[in-house]
Amino acid sequence: MGMVIDRCFHGLLFCMFLSFAFIEAIHEDTIVSSLPGFNGTFPSNQYAGYVTIDGDKNLFYYFVESERNPSEDPVVLWLNGGPGCSSFDGFVYEHGPFNFEPGQPNGSLPILHLNPYSWSTVSNIIYLDSPVGVGLSYSQNESNYNIGDYQTAEDTHSFLLQWFEEYSEFFSNPFYLSGESYAGVYVPTLASQVVAGIQAGVVPNLNFKGYMVGNGVTDPMYDGNALVPFVHGMGLISDDIYQNVVAACNGSYYNNNDPNCDASYQTVMNCFNGLNIYDILEPCYHGSDSVTSLPVSFKQLGATERPLPVRKRMFGRAWPYWAPAVEDGPVTLWPQLDSQSGVPCVSDEVATIWLNNPAVREAIHAQPVSVAGPWEICTTNSNFNYNHDAGSMIPYHVNLTNEGYRALIFSGDHDMCVPFTGSEAWTRSLGYAITDPWRSWLSVGQVAGYLQGYAHNLTFITVKGAGHTVAEYKPQQALAFFSRWLEGTSI
Ligand SMILES: *[C@@H]1O[C@H](CO)[C@@H](O)[C@H](O)[C@H]1NC(C)=O
Ligand SMILES: *[C@@H]1O[C@H](CO)[C@@H](O)[C@H](O)[C@H]1NC(C)=O
Ligand SMILES: *[C@@H]1O[C@H](CO)[C@@H](O)[C@H](O)[C@H]1NC(C)=O
Ligand SMILES: *[C@@H]1O[C@H](CO)[C@@H](O)[C@H](O)[C@H]1NC(C)=O
Ligand SMILES: *[C@@H]1O[C@H](CO)[C@@H](O)[C@H](O)[C@H]1NC(C)=O
Ligand SMILES: *[C@@H]1O[C@H](CO)[C@@H](O)[C@H](O)[C@H]1NC(C)=O
Repeated sequence: MGMVIDRCFHGLLFCMFLSFAFIEAIHEDTIVSSLPGFNGTFPSNQYAGYVTIDGDKNLFYYFVESERNPSEDPVVLWLNGGPGCSSFDGFVYEHGPFNFEPGQPNGSLPILHLNPYSWSTVSNIIYLDSPVGVGLSYSQNESNYNIGDYQTAEDTHSFLLQWFEEYSEFFSNPFYLSGESYAGVYVPTLASQVVAGIQAGVVPNLNFKGYMVGNGVTDPMYDGNALVPFVHGMGLISDDIYQNVVAACNGSYYNNNDPNCDASYQTVMNCFNGLNIYDILEPCYHGSDSVTSLPVSFKQLGATERPLPVRKRMFGRAWPYWAPAVEDGPVTLWPQLDSQSGVPCVSDEVATIWLNNPAVREAIHAQPVSVAGPWEICTTNSNFNYNHDAGSMIPYHVNLTNEGYRALIFSGDHDMCVPFTGSEAWTRSLGYAITDPWRSWLSVGQVAGYLQGYAHNLTFITVKGAGHTVAEYKPQQALAFFSRWLEGTSI
């Protein structure tokens, strides 16, 4: 079948008609034929639905075919992090096929416009709600919501095997994994499962090529030591505060139990009240009044060329940036954090309204709220418990890059949640030869960030002025590095 389709995309009209009929016949249960809020023509086919694994773990995906050449372009899996956050965050707010305009009056369905910087302009892309219990994914047995890194990777691998069986026409396309934030753990652990599957001859044999991680949680020491140099460089703490904390902690903040270090670190932390940790240039939302009362110049900070405004507030990526970072064990989820210290910046109205609308659920083949529960950008279900049990991701990166898989580590350089200083340090720590020394990279004729290329096809880049969710803040630049890296051309 793959061959028939390949030929069809080379322009045989009759055959094309047949093969489209064929594809629709195969995927008629999952094709999205229209979407509430959108009255134009889809630039490419879109599919959505559940893949059920282990009997009753129903994993929801939304699949957007490439708008360019679906039979040849890569297939990319996208994962948001949390843990506990839905990949519709990426779909709605970052690099999905639509930009969502809030409906009027407030609370009504949003209007969908095509996103010129959709990652589907150059790749086939699967948005997966993972693990079970997150977003639109659900199980009748909520014991399945007690989960950790290993189980998540195993489940997502099972999902992929079934998904590729169902969409076997994409089977020979190059395949990549991607994600951000806590997906800095999901992606390498999943990649490791995928590679083990390939080596063991598991069918279908995935054509896995590499992975991308943005502002990814990676390693307790590197991430834990990243904050102080970041905030000093960004001018959020004074030289005095910096010198004090370096001296009191001997430059090592991770797992440092010295009381002097604690006190100095607290002084550092006290400087951040009111900042949006996900993008230090963005206002922090404290309720609609305080946003509207901000000076106009402040509201415009972080403005992008995106046709519709980015969120003014965010929440849920509860990875506690002040923490001794990625410690093993249960991960504090945002509702727990919220009751303790007030996670700033909550807003996901457009996505929440859209994904809980019964007509939208029906159009995307999602179960109604009565079955799958309400959609929340990050789950607040108290039965969802997540255990970080896979440790540091550095050994995973070492193995994967040595096995010949390509890796792009990208980082919005104004994110304080998982600051670029940690990602830069751990990539450098692998000790690989530098093949492309630190330099700027360009998009639309401007410096879009900085790059360092390493042996073993490892690339580290920053995205200038972007926060935690890079493509939300810098959609055009994000599409530029995404497409160049997938094509294997120099970023
Ligand atoms: C589609 O939506 C736009 C914007 O809401 C509206 O102006 C236009 O008339 C609509 N077109 C159709 C065919 O309904
Ligand atoms: C819009 O409506 C939602 C509830 O649907 C509410 O939480 C929110 O505060 C409203 N926003 C504004 C700006 O009025
Ligand atoms: C629910 O899931 C748990 C583990 O995830 C399993 O041990 C248990 O047998 C399941 N219960 C039912 C009724 O299937
Ligand atoms: C401070 O750190 C250095 C290495 O960075 C180490 O050699 C030294 O022993 C440390 N000093 C103390 C007092 O922990
Ligand atoms: C990395 O590879 C080594 C050698 O095959 C193996 O022993 C180790 O378990 C692997 N580590 C990870 C995290 O995959
Ligand atoms: C880097 O990636 C290219 C393209 O996939 C591949 O041909 C090459 O062998 C890789 N190099 C290394 C050192 O893995």
